[in-house]
Parts: sequence; structure tokens; C-alpha cells
Amino acid sequence: MGVIYLDNAATSWPKPETVYQSMDRFNRQLGASPGRGNHSRTLEAGSLLLETREALARLFNVSDCARIIFTANATESLNLALKGILKPGDHAVISSMEHNAVARPLHTMERSGVSFSIAACAPDGSLDPHDVESAIRENTRLVCLLHASNLTGTIMPIAEVGAIAHRRHVLFLVDAAQTAGIIPIDVQRQQIDLLAFPGHKGLFGPQGTGGLYIGPGLEIRTLKEGGTGSQSEQIEQPEFLPDKFESGTHNTPGIIGLGAGVKFVMETGQEQILRHEGQLAEMLISGLQEIPGVTVYGPADGSRRLAVIPFNVEGLDCGEVSFALDQGGIIARSGLHCAPLAHRTIGIIEQGACRFSPGFFNTAEEIERVIRAVYAIAANH
Ligand code: ALA
Repeated sequence: MGVIYLDNAATSWPKPETVYQSMDRFNRQLGASPGRGNHSRTLEAGSLLLETREALARLFNVSDCARIIFTANATESLNLALKGILKPGDHAVISSMEHNAVARPLHTMERSGVSFSIAACAPDGSLDPHDVESAIRENTRLVCLLHASNLTGTIMPIAEVGAIAHRRHVLFLVDAAQTAGIIPIDVQRQQIDLLAFPGHKGLFGPQGTGGLYIGPGLEIRTLKEGGTGSQSEQIEQPEFLPDKFESGTHNTPGIIGLGAGVKFVMETGQEQILRHEGQLAEMLISGLQEIPGVTVYGPADGSRRLAVIPFNVEGLDCGEVSFALDQGGIIARSGLHCAPLAHRTIGIIEQGACRFSPGFFNTAEEIERVIRAVYAIAANH
């Protein structure tokens, strides 16, 4: 029996064949650092980067693809957005389901005079947009909200919060770590000023890829400066995008793989990906809920959550559960999932949780095997 990989919320696996092939072709046959010099290989590498940027722009309805910056992951994108925008004296609003990729930078920035408030979510992770509005103050510059929780899969009301932020003249930063490639995102319709996304989850790129969309007219400070292959005669960092934020040689093979992943998502259709993952999630949740001693967390209504399912087995540590699953060839994450705020919100900061996150390549037969495995673990301890 093969391994069943259910940790797609951490990183998706496997990737579509075209992702492996495009990276292999670049590494073996092309090489070259885009934008460095004028030889044919650098030019081809540069046009491959542009193809990925254009594909991402189509996916998120961005009108100028230069406003999409390549980063190493969503964490780097969030750091760039938060540290590039907020100044001493500024205030930000986040939710109580945010990941450490948001909470830790903001906590660090408190030392330099930035403050933030946390809008409390319900025990299933859901957020009332009015609680964001009530937390907005005179000096609030930014609202930062995840699109869906990496702990409970709870989908957040980003369109409503985007409308509130704009009405209150506050910037809106969305963390799409769990949703990019799975739930359609339209930065114009949803009034998103900044969109941070990973390349290696729902977009099927390799690890070490991600991006930040920066809305028109936004002034953001850099996190790093250096060689860009452009305006090299100047000591000043170029001001134009994307070069302002893309110093140093790119992760070119990774970005090319990401381009193939985005193409796969667009050809398959996000609706189909979401539908398939939703069906697997529904099977898993109802199967787990029938097992004596198993508690499943998150929204009861399947349409309000992604295929990210945390659970605990009474009397067992979540690490023991994931170890036992692993022994049976089932890969699941356990612990605090880098989101202690979210664990506090749903009341499992002490216990942590075991988490299943099925992906597009999982099957119903696999889910049946997983439910039987949890049943056996719960029955036999
Ligand atoms: N934030 C990712 C996860 O939830 C890595 O596993």
C-alpha cells in the first residue's frame, strides 16, 4: 500500500508532472540568471520569469504583472508588506486566527512603536467583520487577515473586510497561504491592496517560491537591496517594480516550476479543485466524527471551510496519533501548526491537534483507509 500524503496545508505533494519537467529542463538545459547580461540564455530565462508573473496576474486579476513580486514564501511576503508599510506610531488590526508569519513580525515591530489589535474570532475560527471595524482607530494604517485558517480551514469574509477597510481608508493585506490556487481571488473585486501568497501549496510550485501583489500607488520600503541587473550605474536601488524588491539572483527554477503549477491550476479550474477537496473533507469529517473519542474542530458547515481538518483522539497526545498514522503510511501534521493565536481561539493551546489536509491528488479510497486507521488508533490505545 502506498503512502497517503495529507499535509497539503504545509506544502502540496505530489506536484503536477509538468512542474517537475519544467524545472528539470531549466536546470539541465538552460541555467542562466535572468536579467544579467544580454545572452540568449539570460533572455530566455527572463521571459520564463515573465510568463509566471503574467500567469499569476491572470489568476488574481492583477492588471499590471510588474506589481507581483517574487519572494521565497508567504512569510517573506507578509514581512515585506508589514515592515514596508507600517511606521512607528501606526496601528494594525489582525484576527485571532492569524499565523505566526503575521503575529511575530508585528510583535517584533512593537519595539519600534507599531501597535496592533486582535479581533477575536469564534471558537470555530469564524470572524464577524464588525469586530474588525470596531478595532479600527484613528492611527490604523492596515488590516491584515488570512483568507482561510491553516488550523481549522475556516474561510474568512475577505470581501466584506476589504469593503470596511476601504470605507475607513485603511490598507487591506490578505494572507492567502491556504487559498491561492484553491479559492478564486480577485484583487480588484475584493479590494485587496496587498496579497501575500506561497507558491508551494495550492499553486503546486516547489518550496522556496511565493509572491506579494502590491496595489497601485502604494509606497513600500524594501527589506533588501542589491543587484537587479537594471540601472547598474546607480548606487540607489531602482524605484520601479518588480526590480525594487527583487535584488539578487532569483529562484529561477522554482519560479518556472511555479509557472507550470499555476498553468495546471488554470487548466484544471479552481472550482474543480475546490469541489474535489471539499468532497474529501466532507468524507473525512463525517467519518472522524463517528469514531468514539475523536473530536473534530472548525466550522460544522462544510461550505465555510477548506480541506484542513484538525482533530484529537481522547487520551492520546496529537504527536502520538501522527506517529501511529505515519507507521501506517499516512502523513499528517501534529502540534501547534505555527498558529498559537488560532489554537487559543479554538481552545486547544495545551493539546495542539493532529491535522489532515487532503489535496487535489488524494482519492476517496485513500480517505476511507485513513478513517479506518484513526478508528483503529482510537480503539486500540
Ligand atoms: N503554515 C504551514 C502549515 O500550516 C506551514 O503547516
